[in-house]
Amino acid sequence: KKCDTPSSISPTCKLSRKKIQINLHCGHCNLAVPVDGWVRSVRAQKANVFLHVNDGSSLQSLQVVASSELSDPLLTFGSAVEVTGILKKSPHQKQPVELDANFIVFCFIFFFLRTFPLKSKSDMALSIFANFLISGDNGFVEINTPIITSNDCEGAGELFQVEPSGPDYADGENFFSVPAYLTVSGQLHLEVVSGAFSKVYTFGPTFRAENSQSRRHLAEFYMVEAEISFTQSLEDLTKVMEDMFRFATEHVLAHCVEDVDLFHKHVTPGQKLKEYLVSFLRITYREAIDILRRSSERFAFPTDWGCDLKTEHEKYLVKHCGNIPVFVTDYPYDLKPFYARDNQDHPERTAAAVDLLVPGVGELCGGSLREERLNLLSARAGLEDVYSWYLDLRRFGSVPHGGFGLGFERYLQCILGVDNIKDVVPFPRFSHSCLL
Ligand code: 4AD
Repeated sequence: KKCDTPSSISPTCKLSRKKIQINLHCGHCNLAVPVDGWVRSVRAQKANVFLHVNDGSSLQSLQVVASSELSDPLLTFGSAVEVTGILKKSPHQKQPVELDANFIVFCFIFFFLRTFPLKSKSDMALSIFANFLISGDNGFVEINTPIITSNDCEGAGELFQVEPSGPDYADGENFFSVPAYLTVSGQLHLEVVSGAFSKVYTFGPTFRAENSQSRRHLAEFYMVEAEISFTQSLEDLTKVMEDMFRFATEHVLAHCVEDVDLFHKHVTPGQKLKEYLVSFLRITYREAIDILRRSSERFAFPTDWGCDLKTEHEKYLVKHCGNIPVFVTDYPYDLKPFYARDNQDHPERTAAAVDLLVPGVGELCGGSLREERLNLLSARAGLEDVYSWYLDLRRFGSVPHGGFGLGFERYLQCILGVDNIKDVVPFPRFSHSCLL
């Protein structure tokens, strides 16, 4: 709608054809500008209507003041609008400027995502973890590991098979000559290149055909994976995990505090993210089992030595340890994948493996020293057939090494205090859900 009697444009006011972005609007006072965005709230008074319009450039909204005749009774939360008006200094302290509207085009589109921490996600994905790993002190080299692979790194059989489609392949021809899958982890390829660069990392999409509707599983998620050569202790790995978590989270607190506050205000009032930044605790799997068995909590799954820790156990352990991140080390050998190093000096048969458990989520990172001794690796059933190239890495000379993977969406879940992982991505993939 166009106002019949537009607000007076002062002679000093310039008209700009360039749309402004709300997060950059400061300093444009007394300028007639167009703004596009979605209505976040509408408050009507007798003569005027007050809209909060957000254009997706940040979480910040711009207050638009329009005479009632400009507004439309159908204007509501989610409506898309194009508003032209004059940016003026606001009488309210909270917002530096407001837009005195003289023209509103009402596009009437509703756009709804389960959630929208997209800005945080892309900013962080592109920069923080990579910045930490490539920084001078750390010196990791980035490697793009393949998305299509013939290996099942975790050995769990949760694979999506890749096959060509289309008329050229109607007779079921096998494109790669071997069964090929979407990768579940870039680890094995990182292990190959860690024989040339001693510290490597990858950050890419990974896929799991886990038939799970849980609050922390996706079929497609991003993982930051690091591999370090010449290491013989889990401490070398846990130090990188802890420093990386701290670096990323401090960055978020310094630069995206509005996003974090918004989520924490609505989702998990109480605990502050910075409370997670104390020194992480460290317990063994044996100690974890003892804690669980001593507790009065009734768990749905067993807590005997040798049983896998389920989400309920992990969340309990984090709470028990004061709601801060906890490393659990030295899991039973049979619980961990074929690549985990045998702790031969332990009385119970354990692997040099570690999981980092964090508040609200449970497992955020999984890592281990890798078995570099050929005889012990070969003893794992079935490896010779499928992973002969992996055994060759040891056969022709390997050094002690280890690494870990951090699930990026679970990291977002943790720092934003979001209960369901499907709410931290715009297009979550899980069983029976791949429509769009
Ligand atoms: O513990 P995982 O399976 O470890 C690996 O894949 C190793 N190969 C990584 C390595 O050492 N390079 O997975 C690592 C992390 C988990 O701790 C979790 O945060 C995340 O990946 N993750 C998932 N996130 C969302 N949905 C799923 N289905 C996930 N499965 C694992």
